[in-house]
Amino acid sequence: MTASRRPLIAGNWKMNGKTADGVALASGVAEKMKAAGDVSFDLLVCPPFTLVSRVGDAIKGSGVMLGGQDCHTAPSGAHTGDTSAEMLADLGCGCEIVGHSERRTNHKESDELVLAKAEAAHANGLVAIICIGETESQRDAGKTLDVNGSQVAGSVPAGSTAKNTVVAYEPVWAIGTGRTPTNDEVQEVHAFIRAELVKKVGADEAGAMRILYGGSMKPGNAKELIALEDVDGGLIGGASLKADDFWAIAQASV
Ligand code: PGA
Repeated sequence: MTASRRPLIAGNWKMNGKTADGVALASGVAEKMKAAGDVSFDLLVCPPFTLVSRVGDAIKGSGVMLGGQDCHTAPSGAHTGDTSAEMLADLGCGCEIVGHSERRTNHKESDELVLAKAEAAHANGLVAIICIGETESQRDAGKTLDVNGSQVAGSVPAGSTAKNTVVAYEPVWAIGTGRTPTNDEVQEVHAFIRAELVKKVGADEAGAMRILYGGSMKPGNAKELIALEDVDGGLIGGASLKADDFWAIAQASV
């Protein structure tokens, strides 16, 4: 974290929550935000598509931002089961996660597709939160930097800016496992990602672009992770499902 980049604390609810749970969670987060007044971080919740509208109502006026978890590349058309970036923007989303490893794995999403989704987000005025990260076997094989470098090269659209793009480094083996890289390992990868972003978007945008850490971030480890020079916040799964834990992580960025 450096003073020039405002931390972003983003909750990825994944496929969790029925209406009552989602509204209660969103209201809990919104209440904490309202009570806090002026804060030094951005706070974002990304509920499943079924809850986007209701969560949007629950957080209205609180300063908590709303985001989607994925989108189709097209604005509309014959794409059964899909949701467009235009639709998310229409519901009040300001951000959208693209290329999460669960989508890269479960839906075989390629870098090319993730890049096209990020472009669709940009075209609709949404901030694209582009996820990258190595698997455990890639790390064991010493390929961590290669993998993340090629995902930056392949998934981040040319012309991305610090305003419309956030990169989330999420080691696949750390997601939902309670395991994390060491602080030095996290900082090494984040600094490397920023250097790769320089090649893609230039030094000014890369220097201002937020790079989040994701993968088993919790209240207990958030402070030391977010304190790292090139870590500008977190993308939080499990711990974003409890308002108290999510808020504690946000407080760790202060
Ligand atoms: P986790 O998930 O915090 O539950 O590890 C993070 C993510 O997948 O974004």
